[in-house]
Amino acid sequence: MFNMPTTARSWGLAGVLAVAATLAACGESPTKKVDMKSYAEKLAASLSKICPVAKPDDMTAFDKCRHGMGTGDENLALNDNVVLWGGEQPKLGWDKKKLAYIKSDFWRSTYFSLFMFSGKQKILGEGPEGTTIVSIEAYFRNALPPGAYPYPFWHHGDKWVAYETANEIRFYLGADGKAKFVTRAHEGSYDNRGPWAWAPVKPPAFDGQWMWSDDKGQTQPYITLFSEQYSAGNPHLARLDETYKTVALAMRGGDCMACHAPDGHKIMNRLTMLMTPRHAASEIDGILKSVRDNKMPQTEKGDPKAMDPKLKNELLITGEAFKKAIEEANAWERKNQPKNKPTS
Ligand code: HEC
Repeated sequence: MFNMPTTARSWGLAGVLAVAATLAACGESPTKKVDMKSYAEKLAASLSKICPVAKPDDMTAFDKCRHGMGTGDENLALNDNVVLWGGEQPKLGWDKKKLAYIKSDFWRSTYFSLFMFSGKQKILGEGPEGTTIVSIEAYFRNALPPGAYPYPFWHHGDKWVAYETANEIRFYLGADGKAKFVTRAHEGSYDNRGPWAWAPVKPPAFDGQWMWSDDKGQTQPYITLFSEQYSAGNPHLARLDETYKTVALAMRGGDCMACHAPDGHKIMNRLTMLMTPRHAASEIDGILKSVRDNKMPQTEKGDPKAMDPKLKNELLITGEAFKKAIEEANAWERKNQPKNKPTS
């Protein structure tokens, strides 16, 4: 099956053994299976260390959590690329659940870090698609300022209440320990929510805007701005903002937000959101590809919809400039602030 190249002899014994070990590993099991029990324990322990239960309005704890996310074992369960995330929706089969596609690192710092973890976990059994369901006890930070949430979770019906009363996050893990999807649910316990009294929060009225200016003139949600993602000294910040503005205008011209905002679930089960700077940045490759290939925009029925060639050209040019700014900002960060991991 494998002819040892003659040069292998000159690698010395260690090299030859390394090759043999790799081959043996490949031959025996292409996917490494994890021991779910110890894996779940590790996951919950890591989360409770980085994001322990605190008061739901504790900004210091929140900031520590979102900046610490990604440094510990909680990473094990995330795919390198994307998380499928949403409410549990127990009555719907897995393929009918309305879930959002979100890049893993963006999800970790802006959605996942809105939760606090007690360290408790349990294995709930088998899920769809050959998954094992691991429930991690989790409580939602419901008393942060409105701009700390990546979009107004109070935009529709009981969604805010569903978030604020969640008490577990369920990881649907493949045999390799990577999450096929992740949900929030309410079937757990509130026993470890902390010694302080818990109270529901009435969110502001939703006025139809995914982004808004607060009474100090600051753009909100601040958490979706590049200034939250990159160091203050990053010399590419201003260009990121400028290039985002031009691509956002072109996307508005292409009517992209009619479908790619949180209410887009009306049209699609698996939703890609593009309505804030960081949402758009995390999807810039998909934006460029789908427009270039004439897949987007589309009609509500899913047929490609022609775009004015001038507007299409503008979207591609501004999109490329935005992509370049993101790449340069990331490169600067990797070189100068290696502890910060702004990969999307
Ligand atoms: C009428 C609704 C609608 C409009 C308008 C629309 N999209 Fe989409 N978009 C969809 C649907 C539905 C999907 C999922 C398609 C699929 O999974 O095959 C999608 C998928 C995508 C994806 C993810 C797919 C990938 O390959 O990464 C991107 C990015 C995207 N659209 C960008 C855009 C952009 C940019 C515009 C505006 C120029 C736009 N869309 C306009 C409905 C729409």
